[in-house]
Amino acid sequence: MTVQAKDIVPGLAGIPAAESKISYIDGQKGILEYRGYAIATLAEESSFEEVSWLLLYGELPTAEELAGFRSRLRENRQLPERMYELVKSLPGAGHPMDALQACTAALGMYDRSRDYDDTEHADQACIRLLAAMPVLVAAFERHRAGKDFVAPDPELDTAACFLWMLTGQKPDELAARVLDVALILHADHTMNASTFAARVVASTEADPYTVCSSALGALTGPLHGGANERVLVMLKQIGGPDQVEAWLEGQIASKSKIMGFGHRVYKVKDPRSVILQALARQLFDKLGTTPIYDTAIELEDKVVAQLGHKGIYPNVDFFSGIVYSKLNIPVDCFTPIFAIARVAGWLSHWREQMKNNRIFRPSQVYVGGHERKYAPIEQR
Ligand code: COA
Repeated sequence: MTVQAKDIVPGLAGIPAAESKISYIDGQKGILEYRGYAIATLAEESSFEEVSWLLLYGELPTAEELAGFRSRLRENRQLPERMYELVKSLPGAGHPMDALQACTAALGMYDRSRDYDDTEHADQACIRLLAAMPVLVAAFERHRAGKDFVAPDPELDTAACFLWMLTGQKPDELAARVLDVALILHADHTMNASTFAARVVASTEADPYTVCSSALGALTGPLHGGANERVLVMLKQIGGPDQVEAWLEGQIASKSKIMGFGHRVYKVKDPRSVILQALARQLFDKLGTTPIYDTAIELEDKVVAQLGHKGIYPNVDFFSGIVYSKLNIPVDCFTPIFAIARVAGWLSHWREQMKNNRIFRPSQVYVGGHERKYAPIEQR
């Protein structure tokens, strides 16, 4: 049977591409689970490092397993010296996502064996990638600011160590916890564009560094990882809580989208934004409110009142950008932070794909010409 243009599903929207046991979403009920555990429980009880283990191996770790995993993550924060030289050679004016993608691919060149059927070797690659991402993001930020690199601190977990390497200051407990929870919330989200990219590349039996660098490329686009940057720009543009009403009227009249609202899957409030909002409140209560936060709260109220009936509620990007800005993280590092978290999901999908692999090979509907006459160049 010939496939016709009408058979195409743009963006493969709603087409199941794989069986997965990693995460689950019910967009009508506002449910997100990792390996069957509710996201709110994990945010409350767990840590990003423990959640990474859960995603990778399918079960919560024992105390001994977690201790071993943590210590291997800390050992693997030490990158080959040439990785730092590579970071220093990159143009500081470039985007940190491009730096991260280039460095992730380069990191794979230090992994000589390509035998990922060897479970120990596959585990080591996952640990190396999880450990390296925060180091690379922080190192690039220091480099472009003309500052020395800050050595990772083995006493600190992933989130706190990232803030330390980024700023050279030990983060306060609440700031570290808030970032840790943000990493938990971003660690996986079913078959999104970067995860699909990861699985397509995995299906060719490419190595996990290439899988992650390809997923990083997909995450770079503004339709995927970049929305939280745009939330911040929007809130600054609005100017303050008093300007929200008039600004929103203008947006609705011109049918413009409001950044950080709406979701392809969630038609109620994104459960991740509920958690981040509560943490944002704690953070702003402790460190002092800002016009951006007050504007955001006012905007949420007004948008939900006017567009809630259409299923338009804040998504995770609405509060993540606000939280990161309060932690003094540069705006263009928001998507790299997303990547620091999502690498846990990509690697879990890599493992799952390899267990039952078939190379992705969709079809197409050819709509070009046929049997065209070749004209020699001088006749064109
Ligand atoms: N602001 C205002 N209206 C919105 C909206 C938003 N952010 N998102 C959706 N809508 C409206 C649409 O205009 C449409 O209205 P209509 O039925 O009167 O035409 C209706 O809601 C359905 O919109 P649709 O574009 O079909 O929703 P979607 O599920 O395809 O889109 C997004 C989902 C995420 C692409 C979309 O909500 C969006 O662009 N949001 C802003 C960007 C963002 O925050 N992205 C991060 C996502 S995690």
